[in-house]
Amino acid sequence: MKKREQWSSNFGFLMAAAGSAVGLGNLWKFPYIVGMNGGGIFIIVYLILLIFLGSPILMAEMSIGRKTRLNAIDACNKIKPGWGFAGGLGVLGAFVILCYYSVIGGWVLKYLFKYIISSSIENPSEYFRDFSQSPIEPIIWHLIFAAICIGIVMKGISGGIEKISKIFLPLLALFIIVIAVNVIRLPNAVNGLKFFLIPDFSAIDSLSDVFSLLLNAMGQVFFSLSLGMGTLITYGSYLSRESNIQKNAVYIPVFDLIIALLACTAILPAVFSFELEPTAGSGLLFSTLPYVFSHISYGKYIAVIFFLLVFFAAVTSAISLIEVIASYFIDNRKWSRKKACVIPGIIFMSIGSIASLSFGRLSYLRLFDNNIFDLLTILSDKIIMPIGGFFICILTGYIWNTKSMYEELSSGGIFKVYFKKTLSFLIRYFAPAMIIIIFITSFF
Ligand code: PHE
Repeated sequence: MKKREQWSSNFGFLMAAAGSAVGLGNLWKFPYIVGMNGGGIFIIVYLILLIFLGSPILMAEMSIGRKTRLNAIDACNKIKPGWGFAGGLGVLGAFVILCYYSVIGGWVLKYLFKYIISSSIENPSEYFRDFSQSPIEPIIWHLIFAAICIGIVMKGISGGIEKISKIFLPLLALFIIVIAVNVIRLPNAVNGLKFFLIPDFSAIDSLSDVFSLLLNAMGQVFFSLSLGMGTLITYGSYLSRESNIQKNAVYIPVFDLIIALLACTAILPAVFSFELEPTAGSGLLFSTLPYVFSHISYGKYIAVIFFLLVFFAAVTSAISLIEVIASYFIDNRKWSRKKACVIPGIIFMSIGSIASLSFGRLSYLRLFDNNIFDLLTILSDKIIMPIGGFFICILTGYIWNTKSMYEELSSGGIFKVYFKKTLSFLIRYFAPAMIIIIFITSFF
């Protein structure tokens, strides 16, 4: 049998896994969700869930992947026949996410090209509104973005994903710092810093606020760490036994968090300084940063590099989603890599084109006050991923057994496994219980 491809080094894996984790979730979504959920208080809840829910599930997924060396569905099936559905949820989730993710990826491309051809954007808020509501342009950019990602995955793992992530991730961190340093010197910026660094408990005045805060934070943890949907099972399946999974499960969330907080530092103070609305929603990044770029020296060039880096961040995440789908069709259905990329690609490009119209022509199509785009995000972050995470915990904690997980974490005795008891508690009791409680209470 053909030997399974492997990451060329643990650093390569780490960068690819961080590349999957760090993406639009950190740069585009995190700041606007923080803005809509009361600032600092959201960050505290997010941090708690990241440590006690995110990191253990990350370990479980990577262990299952490396142990079985299979795609998400077959990996779960191998651990326990009949459990393939747990990984199957991931393939479904990846489809759903790709439909809207590549719409935002398209927005990023549009802004990149806008800054390449012109020196600034006049009236950023109106500009964003007109663009996002227009019927054709966002679809074209979405299709270009999707086609680029599909092309990269067609080339295979280490050739495509690893190389890109190694270079751009450190650069991305550097550039957001450059922007953030400029932003915090703007007048009134300090109120933006206070908004997300100092929790304001008065923002919570009913139990339903608490529940919705928890649900939003949990959704964001899953989304941002690429959890509950087989990405890390798939990536772990290419990981060598010399890698220390437990360490990776600390590095990845830490790096992911740093980038998310930096994104907040670059965006939220600017929102306050230019008297915009922190609750603006999905357009926050696009309608805020152009103000900043018009106010700082070399703004145009910084904007071009910034959007280029955001584009890379989005690409490395999107390709990890396509990889989840493709590796299933390649391993399980024996499709060629090309077919396994192109056919699902055509489907998510089509649904994405419809989602892209949610802000304009199709904005009247609503369910419970959510447009198509919002519904796709709710379906993935708040339903499919947490349910996937729940089953991963049950599979690892009770069926495979945490002991077998420790065996994999230690790489057959090479590495010491830390916090065994706590981990066992988190995976067997805390995480599944939290997911169920948050899930049920969200209906009230
Ligand atoms: N974590 C990615 C981001 O933050 C999105 C993603 C979710 C990627 C799930 C893969 C799987 O942008």
